[in-house]
Amino acid sequence: MLGIYVHIPFCESKCNYCAFASFVQKKEIQKKYFKFLIDEINNFNLASDSIVDSIFIGGGTPSCVDVCYIETIMSAIKNKFKILKDAEITIEANPNSLNLEKLKIYRKLGINRLSIGVQSLNNNQLKKIGRMHNKKQVFDALKFAKKAGFENINCDFLLGLENSNYFKIKNMLRKIKNKVTHFSCYMLQVENGTLLEKMCKEKKIVLPDEDKTVKIYEKISNYLQKKKFFRYEISNFAKEGYQCLHNIKYWRRDNYLGFGLSAHSLFNNKRWANASIFDDYFKNKKPYEELLTNQQIIEEIIMLGLRCEIGFNKKQILDLGYDIEKNENFNNLINKNILIEKGDIIKTNPKYYGVSNYIISSIL
Ligand SMILES: C[S@@+](CC[C@H](N)C(=O)[O-])C[C@H]1O[C@@H](n2cnc3c(N)ncnc32)[C@H](O)[C@@H]1O
Ligand code: SF4
Repeated sequence: MLGIYVHIPFCESKCNYCAFASFVQKKEIQKKYFKFLIDEINNFNLASDSIVDSIFIGGGTPSCVDVCYIETIMSAIKNKFKILKDAEITIEANPNSLNLEKLKIYRKLGINRLSIGVQSLNNNQLKKIGRMHNKKQVFDALKFAKKAGFENINCDFLLGLENSNYFKIKNMLRKIKNKVTHFSCYMLQVENGTLLEKMCKEKKIVLPDEDKTVKIYEKISNYLQKKKFFRYEISNFAKEGYQCLHNIKYWRRDNYLGFGLSAHSLFNNKRWANASIFDDYFKNKKPYEELLTNQQIIEEIIMLGLRCEIGFNKKQILDLGYDIEKNENFNNLINKNILIEKGDIIKTNPKYYGVSNYIISSIL
């Protein structure tokens, strides 16, 4: 089975923490971009008869562009690939760019999963990070989504915002938890070159330190799990049966194809990426294209596996030539019960998900 990712690099404004390939662009650029994107899909010629079981229209903010572009993308994909009848088809959205009419069209196009960037329900916090929406718009969006027939809904939240604590975040999640099937809770990263980085340096914003955010994350994880949102990856929590199949593909290293600016692909252990600058993308430049070596495959299996509850298979990497039992740090982590071994499967002890980056880098 195959996954397809389509990148929509447009936003109504740039949030001050965001380093993704997302830009505020004029309508003419958007028109040119979508023409090129559709050509990219139509002209794609890798011989594959794989059936597509997940499509993810991400961004940027796909919900802020004219819905006719989403229609054209969906028909180009349907013409080019065989799509499984029950494929998971997700679109990312911001609360302020959703309305009932738009959501009904998405449903008609076969889109059956909605991922809404909520980040916070505190209007001051939202303003401080440069979001365009407010709390009311989140609840309106959820109401419209239900009315349009969406039952599989994710909300993204940010942990580690200014003036944040466990109780405040828990209360936000509590207000929404009966309306959604999935939460993504990301720890805010201060990315190089962002306005947030500058604001931190100039003390215009004071963020909690990493230890405090990790503690909040751990408590939030416990809260969500008590409410039957099962953690299947560090930042992702889902009701039974509502894990995001598309994201799981990334972590399992299944084949996926990415179309659009900065989109990445993995196909039979070949990785490639599209350019993340419009001019280069329009010239079809591929800044990165590589058939992975065994060493790289092994590292990916360990790194991705330890981020999620599926873990990784010791035997699979032994077959690729690496005997992890000879790694002293790995053995120490097993002895300290930080990594858990069940037969050939190695997983991160869920108690240590908050520091999994350190665990992974100590092994690799
Ligand atoms: C790239 S955005 C796309 C969806 C949509 N544009 C939005 O912002 O809601 C996907 C998610 O990435 C997360 N994200 C973006 N920048 C981040 C950062 N610096 N640290 C942590 N999470 C971030 C946000 O939670 C956001 O909802
Ligand atoms: S709306 Fe989403 S993609 Fe756009 S700038 Fe904000 S976080 Fe980034």
